[in-house]
Amino acid sequence: MNFQLTEEHLAVQEAAREFAKSELLPGVIERDTEAKFPKEQVKKMGELGFMGMMVDPKYNGGGMDTLSYVIAMEELSKIDASASVSMSVNNSLVCWGLEKYGTEEQKQKYLTRLASGEVLGAFCLSEPEAGSDATSQKTNAELKGDHYILNGTKNWITNGSSASIYLVIAQTDASKGHKGISVFIVEKGWEGFVIGKKEDKLGIRGSDTHSLMFTDVKVPVENRIGEEGFGFTFAMETLNGGRIGIAAQALGIAAGAYELSLAYSKERKAFGKPISQHQAIQFKLADMATQIEAARLLVYKAAWLKDQEQDYAHASAMAKLYASEVAMNVTIEAVQVHGGYGYVKEYHVERLMRDAKITQIYEGTSEIQRIVISRGILK
Ligand code: CAA
Repeated sequence: MNFQLTEEHLAVQEAAREFAKSELLPGVIERDTEAKFPKEQVKKMGELGFMGMMVDPKYNGGGMDTLSYVIAMEELSKIDASASVSMSVNNSLVCWGLEKYGTEEQKQKYLTRLASGEVLGAFCLSEPEAGSDATSQKTNAELKGDHYILNGTKNWITNGSSASIYLVIAQTDASKGHKGISVFIVEKGWEGFVIGKKEDKLGIRGSDTHSLMFTDVKVPVENRIGEEGFGFTFAMETLNGGRIGIAAQALGIAAGAYELSLAYSKERKAFGKPISQHQAIQFKLADMATQIEAARLLVYKAAWLKDQEQDYAHASAMAKLYASEVAMNVTIEAVQVHGGYGYVKEYHVERLMRDAKITQIYEGTSEIQRIVISRGILK
C-alpha cells in the first residue's frame, strides 16, 4: 500500500490550490451574500480542464483518474463550495453517465461541449414529491412516434439556470415501478421547458439551484440514454460516483475551515499568549485534524476503488456519510475557535459552516447513505 501522491496528483493539487486562491477567493463573500453564481470563475475552470477531468481526451476531457478529481475538488471546496458543486455535478453526474452509456452521436454532440466546459450540465432526478424516494418519479415521458412528450417538474436542480444540457429522469411506464424509468438529454430553450424559481438557500448560495418545469416538451428518441427502463439504474450508478465528488467537497470544506482555524489560533492572543498555546484550542485542532485525515482516507479509497473498476457504491456512501459529518463538526468548531470573529462573514468560517450542511443532504441524505451501506454489509 502506498499513501504517496504521484507527481501528477501533486501537480493537480497545486494547480487547483493556486486557482482557488487567485480566482475563487476574491469576491467569494460577496457572491455568497448576493447569491451570485460564479459564472466567470466556472468558465475559467472549464478552460483549465476542471469540468471534464475524467473524460477521455478524444471527447475534450482531461483523461485523469478519480483521485485527481477528488484532489481538485478538495482544494476548490476549501475556498468556494458553490463553484465546486457546479464542477462536481458536471463531472460526476453529467459527463460520467454520458461517456459510459451515451451513444457516439450523443457524445459528439453533447459530451465534447460539457467536458471542455463550453457548456454546463445538470442532473434532474429530484421532484417535489420524490427526493430520497427516487423511484416515485411523477415526471412522465410518453412515446409518440420518433419523439417523447415530456411533462413534469424537477426540484433542487444544481446549475439549474446556468446549464445548457439537462439529463432528465422520467417515468416511461408507471406500471413497471423503477424498471419503467428512463433518462433523456434535454436542451435549454426547447419549447415547453421553463426554468422555475431560484432557491434562496442557507449555504452554497452562489450555486444556482432551481426548479424546472416541462410542459409537452418534445424530446427526440435519439436523446434517450440507454434502453427504456434503464433510467433508475443510470441514476443510481451515476450517484455512486457523484457521492465521491460530494464527499471530496465536504472534505474540502472541513479542511478549509481547519486551515483557517490553525492560522487564526497562532495569531490571536488571549490570557497573554496565542490561543494555540491553550489546551482547550489544541484539543479542538487535534480532533479536527484527525477527523479530516480519516475522511480523506475514505474519500481516496472510494476514488481508488472506482479507478480499479471495483464495486464502489458502498465505499462512496461511507465516504460521503463520514466526510459530510466531519464537515459539519469541523466547521462548527472552527467558528468556536474564532470566537466572535467566527460569527461574522469576513473570517469565512461562518460561510463554510453554512455550506457544510448541504453535504449531508444532496446526492442522498446521510440516512440514504446508511441505507446503501447497510445493504452492502448485509447482502
Ligand atoms: N447502485 C446501483 N444500483 C442501485 C443502488 C446503488 N447505489 N441502489 C439501488 N440500486 C438498484 C437496486 O439494485 C435495484 O435494482 P434491481 O431492480 O435491478 O435489482 C434498483 O436500484 C431498485 O433498488 P431498491 O429496490 O433498493 O430501491 P428503493 O426504492 O428501495 O431505494 C434508494 C433505493 C437507495 C433509497 C434510492 O432511491 C436512492 O438512492 N435515493 C436517494 C436519491 C438521491 O440520492 N437523490 C439525490 C438527488 S441528485 C442531486 O442531489 C443532484 C444535485 O443537483 C446536487
